[in-house]
Amino acid sequence: MIRVIQWATGGVGRAAIETILDHPELELAGAWVHSADKDGADLGTLVGRDRIGVTATTDAEALLARDADCVLYSPLLADGKTLRGILAAGKNVVTPLGWFYPDAKQRERYDALCREHGVTLHGTGIHPGGITEKIPLALTALSGSVTAVRAEEFSDIRTYAAPDVVRYWMKFGGTAEEATSSGTADALGSGYRQSVWMIADALGFDLDPELRVTHEAAVATAPIESPIGVIEPGQVAAQRLRWQGTVDGEPVITAAVNWFMGEAALDPPWEFGAAGERYEIEIAGDPGSFTTIAGMHAHPADDRAPAGGPRVVERHPGIVATAAHCVNSIPYVVAAAPGVHTYLDLPLTAGRAAPHLHRAHRSDRSPAR
Ligand SMILES: NC(=O)c1ccc[n+]([C@@H]2O[C@H](COP(=O)([O-])OP(=O)(O)OC[C@H]3O[C@@H](n4cnc5c(N)ncnc54)[C@H](OP(=O)(O)O)[C@@H]3O)[C@@H](O)[C@H]2O)c1
Repeated sequence: MIRVIQWATGGVGRAAIETILDHPELELAGAWVHSADKDGADLGTLVGRDRIGVTATTDAEALLARDADCVLYSPLLADGKTLRGILAAGKNVVTPLGWFYPDAKQRERYDALCREHGVTLHGTGIHPGGITEKIPLALTALSGSVTAVRAEEFSDIRTYAAPDVVRYWMKFGGTAEEATSSGTADALGSGYRQSVWMIADALGFDLDPELRVTHEAAVATAPIESPIGVIEPGQVAAQRLRWQGTVDGEPVITAAVNWFMGEAALDPPWEFGAAGERYEIEIAGDPGSFTTIAGMHAHPADDRAPAGGPRVVERHPGIVATAAHCVNSIPYVVAAAPGVHTYLDLPLTAGRAAPHLHRAHRSDRSPAR
């Protein structure tokens, strides 16, 4: 069995623990927690299941001294020093916080560290880290002469129960000027930029040196219940960000997000349109394709609040998908040669059958068996 440590137990971390517990090749070895009140908590009960006898700890050093193959690193903010410490402790790392497609300097630095300690680093998630590059790349294989690739998210952020991420990362609740001039596009863009460059490099686009970045904000016209409390009229309640790779000034690769606190009280009056919350992937080529990914947004039945209250969802499907993408990559990451491995380096990764449907894996199975 592959032994896995979960680093932080927020929404992603708790969903990851569940996915690890249900994965036939993985075993939970422990978890690091930031919150002192979770120190010593049983990780089964922490995710609403039976006790499993494996507990959370705030003691990073003691945790890293444990026998484990891989760490799933998903704290609030990425801390390079901590991450390098985990790699130096001889643990492979999978993370949704970056390293999807590091630039040459970062790659060289992390490649060297990984090789020194015999481990692999892999960045993955949902958006970025999946829907913005891995799935579009797979779809382009069905087209000749690709001229453009677009991946775009349309999400109601009222259901994202991570107030710190929503307030400090995504900059909701302040003024429009604060949001659009706060470096948000730069900070969030570190991942989305990597998605754009990964597609460009894999398909062979000769992009202009600088990506085009646009960031627009809409404000509330009435009080809106949200994960960060009530957003008052005049405060930022929706954002649209685009990161685009251009050739001679013409956009060819686009990663974009439309994050709204609902649609009822926005100025400008932005809407998701009839298709609602979704992810879209559009390939222009011969032939082109248009794909909508649904089911990764919260269903009203997931709401924990009474009707009319904030639509905060404890276990958001998009967060569960992020965790699953990380967890499902672990067997492939552990088997990989030391170094930084992106989607362009790893083999096709897949999920696993549910525990009650699973049978032992046989690599010699052929379709004609
Ligand atoms: N690439 C993707 O597709 C994708 C998708 C979703 C999220 N993410 C990223 O994944 C990360 C986790 O997201 P989430 O939804 O799980 O957020 P969350 O629910 O807010 O959880 C973050 C956890 O980080 C820990 N934490 C809090 N303050 C901290 C601090 N000052 N230093 C270090 N750790 C701290 C806490 O862990 P304990 O509760 O254990 O104390 C907290 O529960 C975020 O950075 C988010 O942007 C990426």
